[in-house]
Amino acid sequence: MNVLVIGSGAREHAIAWKLSQSEFCDQVFVAPGNAGTAEFHTTAAVDIHDFEELGKFAADFNIMMMVVGPENSLVEGIHDYFAQSEYLKHILVIGPKKAAAMLEGSKDYCKAFLQKYNIPTARYQAFTEDTFKEAVEYLKQQSFPAVIKADGLAAGKGVIIAQDYEEGFDALDAMLRNKRFGNAGSKVVIEEYLQGIEVSVFILTDGKEYVLLPEAKDYKRIGEGDSGLNTGGMGAISPVPFADEVFMQKVKERVIEPTLRGMQEEQLDYSGFLFIGLMNVNGDPYVIEYNVRLGDPETEAILPRIQSDLFMMFKALHDHTLGEYQLEVDPRTATTVILASGGYPEGYEKGKEISGLENVPKDVMVFHAGTSMVNGKLLNNGGRVFAVTALGDTMEEALAKANAAAEAITWQGRYYRRDIGFDLGKERVQ
Ligand code: AMP
Ligand code: GLY
Repeated sequence: MNVLVIGSGAREHAIAWKLSQSEFCDQVFVAPGNAGTAEFHTTAAVDIHDFEELGKFAADFNIMMMVVGPENSLVEGIHDYFAQSEYLKHILVIGPKKAAAMLEGSKDYCKAFLQKYNIPTARYQAFTEDTFKEAVEYLKQQSFPAVIKADGLAAGKGVIIAQDYEEGFDALDAMLRNKRFGNAGSKVVIEEYLQGIEVSVFILTDGKEYVLLPEAKDYKRIGEGDSGLNTGGMGAISPVPFADEVFMQKVKERVIEPTLRGMQEEQLDYSGFLFIGLMNVNGDPYVIEYNVRLGDPETEAILPRIQSDLFMMFKALHDHTLGEYQLEVDPRTATTVILASGGYPEGYEKGKEISGLENVPKDVMVFHAGTSMVNGKLLNNGGRVFAVTALGDTMEEALAKANAAAEAITWQGRYYRRDIGFDLGKERVQ
């Protein structure tokens, strides 16, 4: 069976790598892919946002399953397009339809859903340009820090943690009046700041039954000690010591089960991964956000721990048998370190030649993100360039391997955080 993975990051490289291990997958295509996914069948010529062109490709190459990596394709309705086409509707799409993708596509929709189904989350209210005055009044009543979020997709940049009223006012002004995030910020959510430690929880679901995947912790800031600007994510660890049985039981009962009940009541047609961004507030889970896809770099840490056949998991989703699916997970710790171009998440230079990949030990996985191959030379072509993942019996062992491999891969300006896992203590809790 031929499978198509949509996206071009290390997440998609990891998904393709995992699927290609399945005896049921014949050819794994990645569109548009990167230099790393060329080990499969990179199809850079396809414009993934042109659904007609993509559909034609899928039909021509006899694709039977499509796994959608990034959220924008889902919010744009890639699944709906395939489902509505006579020629494409037989393709099993991993990723929800547009209506359900609004759980990520609109913070207001997400918050209203959470509130309606009594799922713990920060107190909030939504405002538009027309209710700017009310937004300012509401802001005045908040304690600080307070959180201001652009409603729509803003590639992780639409969240401002305002330390005081002035900062909050400036954020409201920039989003609602000056349209700093374009349409994404024409509506905003103001919410209470949650004090705690974050964890990313993942399920694969058909909207009724689900499989709980390994959890992970993401390191979002560019600088060591969680300082500096937010990025797409600079590293990940799985498992997360504090996400123990007691905590995960609360997550199931208070978050996952009511979420699935809500999806059914709202008649949301879901098939795919749901990534629940949680804050652990004194041992209790609060939802920060839903994402309707896997996380990046979390995927690069969790897929190497999953021993089950990913294709068969997708088949179980299709057959509505996820409820009895037994996931096999490697108990070891996986650590992922991201190598980025110097200057990221702001401006950076592309086109620098990369060396040292041959010095990476065989048991360390290197997933490509912003790479390209030009005239036989491997060049950096994006902000995040590689995700390096190692497994170990302890977090320290895994980190030592991942950091050594990260050090071995070089190009001018290459940067990585050497302190991934710094906040997780010495040994993981067994
Ligand atoms: P989001 O785009 O919703 O994931 O938000 C980006 C990041 O902002 C999150 O990963 C958190 O670190 C932080 N954040 C968002 N909402 C809150 C909140 N209510 N309290 C504290 N931190 C938050
Ligand atoms: N690592 C966070 C995300 O994928 O949104």
